[in-house]
Amino acid sequence: LDDGLALTPPMGFNNWNSTHCRAEFNEAMVKGIADIFVDKGLKAAGYQYVNLDDCWALPQRDANGKLVPDPARFPGGIKAVADYVHSKGLKLGIYTSAGTKTCSDIGFPGGLGHEYSDAQQFADWGVDYLKYDNCNNQGVDAKQRYRTMRDALKATGRPIVYSLCEWGSNKPWEWAADVGQLWRTTGDISDSWGSMLSLMKQNLPLAQYAGPGHWNDPDMLEVGNGGMTATEYRTHFSMWSIMASPLLIGTDLRKASAETLDILSNREVIAVDQDLLGKQGTVLSSEGGRWVVAKEMKDGSRVVALFNESGNAQRIATSADAVGLPHASAYTLRDLWQHKSYNTAGAISATVPAHGTVLVRVAADGKWAANPPAVELGLGGA
Ligand code: DGJ
Repeated sequence: LDDGLALTPPMGFNNWNSTHCRAEFNEAMVKGIADIFVDKGLKAAGYQYVNLDDCWALPQRDANGKLVPDPARFPGGIKAVADYVHSKGLKLGIYTSAGTKTCSDIGFPGGLGHEYSDAQQFADWGVDYLKYDNCNNQGVDAKQRYRTMRDALKATGRPIVYSLCEWGSNKPWEWAADVGQLWRTTGDISDSWGSMLSLMKQNLPLAQYAGPGHWNDPDMLEVGNGGMTATEYRTHFSMWSIMASPLLIGTDLRKASAETLDILSNREVIAVDQDLLGKQGTVLSSEGGRWVVAKEMKDGSRVVALFNESGNAQRIATSADAVGLPHASAYTLRDLWQHKSYNTAGAISATVPAHGTVLVRVAADGKWAANPPAVELGLGGA
C-alpha cells in the first residue's frame, strides 16, 4: 500500500509460533518482549513491532458490539499494553480475522461486518499494525473483505500497517499491492526443516511482486523454537532476509539462548532484508539442491545466498558476472555470518554444509576494502 508505511519489510515479534493460545500469551509476556527488545539491542537492530496474535479477546462482544480483551490475559486492557510498548519507543500490533470468528476453535469474534467499528477501536487503543486472518469468511469474496478493512483502517486516520493473512489462497500478490503492506503467500509455518523449506520454495518465485510498501510474507520466523539445528535456523534467517520477508520473531525471547539472539541480531544479514531498494532476491540456479539466490542492493552490490538443500556438504559456485555485477578486475566479498571480507577476481564459491547457507555481499573493485557495507539501522519497516 503506497502510503509511506513499511517501506522496508516489518520487523518485530509475534507470539503465535511460541505460544499459540496457551495462557503464557499474556500481558507479562508482551511487556517482557518489549523490555528485551530494548535491553538486548534488538530494537537498535531494527525490531519494532510487538504483535499480538489470536486469542487476546473474550468470545463475546460487549453490549455495544465492542471487542473485549480477555481480563485473565490482559487485565489492564490493550490500551495499557500499547502505552507500555510505546513508552519503549516500539509499536503494537493486533490480530483479527476477515470472517465471523477467528481461527481458534474457541470462537473469538471476527471483523467481518464490524470493520469500521473494530478498526476504530484498534486506533483508539493505539494499535500500529493489524494482521487480518482468513478463517470463517462465509465465502465472501476475498478482495472485497480485505479492501473493506483497508478502507476502515484508513478512515481512522491512524497509520496502521495492514498485513493480509489469506495464506496465498487468492493470489494476493496479483491484487493486494494497493490493499495492504504485506500479504501471506503460504499456509502456516511450523518449526521443522520441511515446513521452512516448502514455504521458501513457494515464496521464491514471487520476487517480481515485492517492493517498498508491498511485501510477500512467507510467514513468521521459527528461529529458536527447537525444531531445527542452528545451521538450519541460519538458513531460515538468511533466506527470509534475501527474500525481503517480514522478520517477525516467533520465539519467546525471555527464554532464548545466546545463539538464538546472535542469529536474530546479525545486523549484516538484517541489512540485506532492510535494503531500501526493496528487491526480493531471485533464484539463479538450484540443480542438485545447490541453490544460488541473488539480491540487488541499493548501493549496487549483490547479496548472494549459496544454499545447500541436500543432506551432504557440497561445493556451490557462481560468479560476479552471473549475479549481475558490472565487470571489474577485482571484487570484495563479505561473508555476512563470518563477518570477514575477502578479495576475489570474480569467483563466488564455497563448500556449504548440509542444510547450510553461505551468505555473501559482493561489490566491484574493493569498494569495501577498508569499510564493510554500512548497516542501515533502525528501519524495521517504519
Ligand atoms: C492462521 C494464521 O495463518 C496463523 O498465522 C495464526 O494467526 C492462526 N491462524 C491463529 O489462529
